[in-house]
Amino acid sequence: MRKDQPSTTAYKVALNILTLGSEPGMDKILPGGIVEATENLLLGSGAIPDSWVRWSRTKSMTWVYRSFDWMLPGMYLALAYRKAFFEQQVRAAIGSGATQVLIPGAGYDTLGWRLAPEFSSVHFHEIDHPATARFKARGIEAMGRRENLHLLQADLGELNLADVLTAVDSWDPAGETAILAEGLLMYLPEDTVRDLFVQCSRITGTGSRMVFDYLRSGADGRPDAGPWTASFLWLIKITGEPWRWSIHPEDLSKFLDSTGWTNAPDLVELSDKCGVEFLAVAVK
Ligand SMILES: C[S@@+](CC[C@H](N)C(=O)[O-])C[C@H]1O[C@@H](n2cnc3c(N)ncnc32)[C@H](O)[C@@H]1O
Repeated sequence: MRKDQPSTTAYKVALNILTLGSEPGMDKILPGGIVEATENLLLGSGAIPDSWVRWSRTKSMTWVYRSFDWMLPGMYLALAYRKAFFEQQVRAAIGSGATQVLIPGAGYDTLGWRLAPEFSSVHFHEIDHPATARFKARGIEAMGRRENLHLLQADLGELNLADVLTAVDSWDPAGETAILAEGLLMYLPEDTVRDLFVQCSRITGTGSRMVFDYLRSGADGRPDAGPWTASFLWLIKITGEPWRWSIHPEDLSKFLDSTGWTNAPDLVELSDKCGVEFLAVAVK
């Protein structure tokens, strides 16, 4: 992403949720309250014009998304299932003892804001690049702050995650933690991804889980997004947020072992609606 500009993919994900929310039956897939909270967050943040938010909730936008789904096959609906997956994972982690949640690259995700009152003894920490986090903070302010939701700003490519978190009073480096790296890893260089896993392992307690989505590497080692990969990679490169990291699913366990985590495929209740992405959980 461009360092001085807020992430465009962050508000695209949020707008996509509004469009999904206008599809019949989606209320059974999407987490409860996500559509209203996302709309209020976008409006309060001032990140994009209000008219974009209103358009996203119209039937015409569902048609637009469905028409363009050929480029990233299945990804339109996959976002709803991805949101449900991450929310189910965080609830399961809290149910089994997690006392804190970390969401790096949170964008305009509303999970922390929505779940904070329900789990008032759990500390939710979000980190995003300052250029995007500023807008998020403004939106959260407009919606009403949560005592146990902590919004942090850091460029994960430049700052050491452990340094950022150990300076925060609410962070417990020995605490059982759920880390949600959603829609993030593909945008980071390989070294940063590796470092993120290593640091997350160092600053969390036993029993922690790291939940993430990733892209499969194609034969040429680049992310594989289906038949239109080359055009899509070019398109997102010129828009300033290229995909950088991907991995062969069969190499994932070895990669995680080398970063202090253990692959836990049994914890992933796989949906067949993942689009071009893979969902994964690692434990410590
Ligand atoms: C596609 S958005 C995903 C947002 C959110 N996790 C979701 O799935 O709804 C990617 C997010 O990663 C953040 N990001 C990308 N590179 C980053 C970096 N170097 N440091 C911090 N955040 C970064 C962007 O600001 C953006 O909010």
